Amino acid sequence: MKISIIGAGNVGALSAMRIAQYNLGDIFLVDIAKGLARGKSLDLADAQAVLGFDYNIQGSDDISSIKDSDIVVITAGLARKPGMTREELLAKNSQILKDVCVNIKELASQAIVMVVTNPLDLMTYLALKTTGFARNKVLGMGSSLDSSRLANLIARELKLPATSVETMVIGAHGEGMLPLARHTKIKGVSLEEFLSDEKMEGLTKGTIGRGAEIVALLGSGSAFFAPSAAVAQMVKIIAKDEKKIIGACAYLDGEYGIKDICIGVPCRLGRAGIEKIIELDLTDKEKKELMHSADSIRNLLKQLPV
Ligand code: APR
Repeated sequence: MKISIIGAGNVGALSAMRIAQYNLGDIFLVDIAKGLARGKSLDLADAQAVLGFDYNIQGSDDISSIKDSDIVVITAGLARKPGMTREELLAKNSQILKDVCVNIKELASQAIVMVVTNPLDLMTYLALKTTGFARNKVLGMGSSLDSSRLANLIARELKLPATSVETMVIGAHGEGMLPLARHTKIKGVSLEEFLSDEKMEGLTKGTIGRGAEIVALLGSGSAFFAPSAAVAQMVKIIAKDEKKIIGACAYLDGEYGIKDICIGVPCRLGRAGIEKIIELDLTDKEKKELMHSADSIRNLLKQLPV
């Protein structure tokens, strides 16, 4: 199994470390910045004896090193800087994504592609259109991170271990995300039995604002511990063909009544990528909110160079 990670910054490098610790396969780290990917790969390889993983780890500034990868994770791009509008970020990262995906199409046509670069739903769409790959082979990491963040906030509120909370977040990775209390369970019991609507609303707001909260505290850059954990978890499910259901950004072709956009929904992942899109039973209010979230993505699609 060959796993390539394009972008050896905070999220890319930490994803590489976690994937290495899962012992999933050979890892190739690529970054446009000279020496960065190679330096980080040497450092990571030096930990092998201590941490007990034994696959090949390499780094390069040459994108051709992704050749014949089974899985390619894209973390290349800019994080939003203070004063930068979403449109400016969109324009810059679109160009990077497009260049990267032209190379993936040529060098790794059999790969499953996982997009991490923001704005996530739009970049996943751009990756799908640029590679021309089947829709099961291109997915985005967003909803699983949002779910993990929500689980953490619920666990703190209820003083429970986060591992006992099974959350469900769908919709856009950003302001339009939709945490579903009805589908969130604690030991099989709906969260609605534990939390009032007002409390849930507060935790939802906290989840939506979590990324920005972290950016403001860090001063430069954005979150990487939880994003890389979510990346590695999804790579593991695919590499080991675990067939687990997890939130992922997927191209919809009529599911949930939505067509021709990429958005977060529960998916069963396996070696073929997105093996099934799970259609949850939503209330009218939830359906309306999901449509609203889809519309916000659709409005921005016009700005993509597809
Ligand atoms: N090819 C390869 N690497 C590139 C390219 C390119 N064309 N363009 C930029 N990069 C690299 C940069 O050199 C940098 O090392 O992408 C890396 C991005 O790393 P960071 O700036 O540390 O950003 P990070 O925190 O890892 O976030 C990356 O993931 O979560 C999202 O919003 C986040 O879009 C951002 C992305």
